[in-house]
Amino acid sequence: MSTQTETTFQSIISHAKEYGFVFPSSEIYDGLSAVYDYGPYGSELKKNIRDYWWKSMTQMHENIVGLDAAIFMHPTTWKASGHVDNFSDPMIDNKDSNKRYRVDHLIEAKAEQLALEGKKEEEFAILKSMDELLAADDYVGLKKLIDDNKIVCSISGTANWTEIRQFNLMFSTEFGAISSDNPDDNKVYLRPETAQGIFVNFLNVQKTARMKIPFGIAQTGKAFRNEIVARQFIFRMREFEQMEMQFFVRPGTEGEWYKFWKEERLKWHLSLGLPTEKYRYHDHVKLAHYAKEACDIEFEFPFGFKEVEGIHSRSDFDLTQHQTYSKKKQQYFDNDIDEATGKPYGNYVPYVVETSIGLDRMFLLILSNAYEEEVIPKEDGTNDSRVVLHLPTKLAPIKLAILPLTKKDGLPEIAKELMDGCRAYFHCFYEEKDAIGKRYRRQDAIGTPFCVTIDHQTKEDNTVTIRYRDSMQQERIAIDKVKDLVLKEIF
Ligand code: GAP
Repeated sequence: MSTQTETTFQSIISHAKEYGFVFPSSEIYDGLSAVYDYGPYGSELKKNIRDYWWKSMTQMHENIVGLDAAIFMHPTTWKASGHVDNFSDPMIDNKDSNKRYRVDHLIEAKAEQLALEGKKEEEFAILKSMDELLAADDYVGLKKLIDDNKIVCSISGTANWTEIRQFNLMFSTEFGAISSDNPDDNKVYLRPETAQGIFVNFLNVQKTARMKIPFGIAQTGKAFRNEIVARQFIFRMREFEQMEMQFFVRPGTEGEWYKFWKEERLKWHLSLGLPTEKYRYHDHVKLAHYAKEACDIEFEFPFGFKEVEGIHSRSDFDLTQHQTYSKKKQQYFDNDIDEATGKPYGNYVPYVVETSIGLDRMFLLILSNAYEEEVIPKEDGTNDSRVVLHLPTKLAPIKLAILPLTKKDGLPEIAKELMDGCRAYFHCFYEEKDAIGKRYRRQDAIGTPFCVTIDHQTKEDNTVTIRYRDSMQQERIAIDKVKDLVLKEIF
């Protein structure tokens, strides 16, 4: 990261803490690495993102229904899904600092450094080699790439590396009273993805909601990964939340559905008014153990283009594995007629296209895209400044701030009446303390799109001043038009 982007990113992290969006977890004990808590405005923003996703997936698609599966699952789930054997990352340790690195992160950091030095060709070459070696699970080749490029540990400054080894990312704990000498008998995992809760409930949902293929099951919830290199604030956490949707399709149609969801999910991002030029697709070379085809939707964070969402064509891998391990059929009877044979398609294990987005990562995307340290030229030639969050109106924690100009003359009463008329429809904020300019700045800093001021003229003609966060323009409107104006922007 360049010094400038590092400074901007640090400012965003400080702002998130200062204004009650994100706090380090258990901060009074110096925090817990890569675990965070969401404050009053953060929890609202997070909920609004989750609700927006949920509504667009379930309410806006008649063939997608919801699910809320438990975090704990039968341990065999993770054997069947392949996570016990395959959910690991190649790691390397520096023998002098004892610091452990994910191999891809170490090489990517070197590539970033080359890019900063203007060595574009070398940057592409090292990333290309890394992709190819990872795809081939060639750890000897990866170690050689690290050695050849003289990659050193950022702490010890040495290239005294161990061999590359695999490290499983699942957290485990004991379940119930420990009744055996072998702790593995009671071992359960904290789910590393929410998707498996959907797979094991596939038939429950299909039958009870009477779904016909193609159909989807959507779920949001916590996931846990013992990330080795947890960094970049809430970008990579050990406890995080996912919003996942598994779309069950007839075998042979997965290619077209993969294409459909790839486009549909990018449209969802853009529907929030986020800039197209900050998005790109990245097709995977190294596929996860379950994937047939996969891509990331990447966004340009302050530290560069990074994955925010994955679209994966998972074939019938998961359902077939659960069928094998549980010895219970995971099949669907398709009575549509196959034009080629003139007969129903009959029984089959459906194929799956998955969309999987991290809620916390989407939160960081929204926050970092919204953050601006704005310089405002004044008429006398000097400059004023403000920190403003240009949050999408739909997602802003507070939609409307209601500000009586003074604490007297009946203005608070009018303001509270307006508040009572609006609060059932959207989140409002009332404040009568401090100069109006100061109050506007506080609302800018938490991204409130509309402020209305009740002044003495309100008493005469029932109008208020509405101030728009992004343009800072103000206009006079009738007090009874305020609610509808805000509602129009959030639906
Ligand atoms: N079910 C498929 C799956 O879990 P993934 O690419 O490993 O796929 C999906 O994760 C999304 O979850 C990522 O695109 C990212 O947004 C989010 N995610 C994954 N690991 C994360 C972590 N450690 N911290 C925050 N978000 C994470």
